[in-house]
Amino acid sequence: MFEEAATEFEAVHGTRPTGTWAAPGRVNLIGEHTDYNDGFVLPIALPHTTRVTARRRDDGRLRLFSAQGDGQVTELAVADLAPGSVAGWAGYPAGVLWALREAGHRVGGADLSFDSDVPTGAGLSSSAALECATAAALSDLYGLGLTAAELALLAQHAENAFVGVPCGAMDQMASACCTRGAALHLDTRTLQLRHVPLDLDAAGLCLLVIDTRVKHDLGDGAYAALRAGCERAAALLGLPALRDLAPPDLPAALGRLPAELGPLVRHVVGENLRVAEAVERLEEGDVAALGPILTAGHASLRDDFRVSCAETDLAVESAVRAGALGARMTGGGFGGSVIALVGTAALPQVEDGVRAAFRQAGFAAPVTFTAVPSPGTRRL
Ligand code: GLA
Repeated sequence: MFEEAATEFEAVHGTRPTGTWAAPGRVNLIGEHTDYNDGFVLPIALPHTTRVTARRRDDGRLRLFSAQGDGQVTELAVADLAPGSVAGWAGYPAGVLWALREAGHRVGGADLSFDSDVPTGAGLSSSAALECATAAALSDLYGLGLTAAELALLAQHAENAFVGVPCGAMDQMASACCTRGAALHLDTRTLQLRHVPLDLDAAGLCLLVIDTRVKHDLGDGAYAALRAGCERAAALLGLPALRDLAPPDLPAALGRLPAELGPLVRHVVGENLRVAEAVERLEEGDVAALGPILTAGHASLRDDFRVSCAETDLAVESAVRAGALGARMTGGGFGGSVIALVGTAALPQVEDGVRAAFRQAGFAAPVTFTAVPSPGTRRL
């Protein structure tokens, strides 16, 4: 596989590459809109990855090519990189290089060629995969020896400060730190993490991913507004973050908050509890018990946090109606993907049920695939 990538790299950059690095997309099992509230998340890495074949350059140039792009090489001067200066997909890898230099790492130019099978715009963290693959390649090419978590935080900083998306740390931590056969239980405040074994096959279950193929434009501004709302609620309650609101104190807290902030707080408190419960069930080996936790999480995102939409609601409802043990939207929301926990024997009927419901509603056919917990960022 490297030979194939190396030949393509040579055709684009005119030189032999040093290696190929891969970083996966993710689905989050539970713990949505908790990461920027210092809370808990439980993602798995997807088998889908973004690969970067790379070589360092000593002339201060960054050359970027994507097999999914327009066939052109984007060439940038490393010294000129500044937040907001690079539009489109190239902003993510350029941002990572910028973030490394901002953090004081001595990183110069590089030739980078990307190829990816992570669906884009599907809420499956294709941007985190792009960032983490770049960070891993540059760390190795320049001998930085960064840990997976360090790569993830640099990638998140690139997305926050260079691209301008105020995301939390979940997606990059998932892409960098997940392991095969396990979900990643992450405390986003302390970054303490635990790999919780998840063997779907042994439990006779599969995780169906339903990409609704819709992305509603309001998503970007709405995400920032929701984050600001959560931070305002924490400030009004005199707490460092909503993670610090103990569940028994929720009713009193709701009484002290303006009406529009209450449901956000209720979601975050309930969602952190759902993560804890999911981890407990998994540790007992009761994978099927995740089902109702997923569906409860979706109801909270739909009714309280209000980040679902007609397509994701229908995917959840129709999957459960057709026999899924539970389902929820995953990721930021306003479209994107739904996950459903399904008994292996029921998989065809659930897929058919969802497809039929989408047809009846006049929605475009969703793309579906099953996912197993896959490895995080690595050199191939
Ligand atoms: C997006 C962000 C993450 C997280 C989720 C919601 O995926 O990038 O940081 O906030 O939304 O859980």
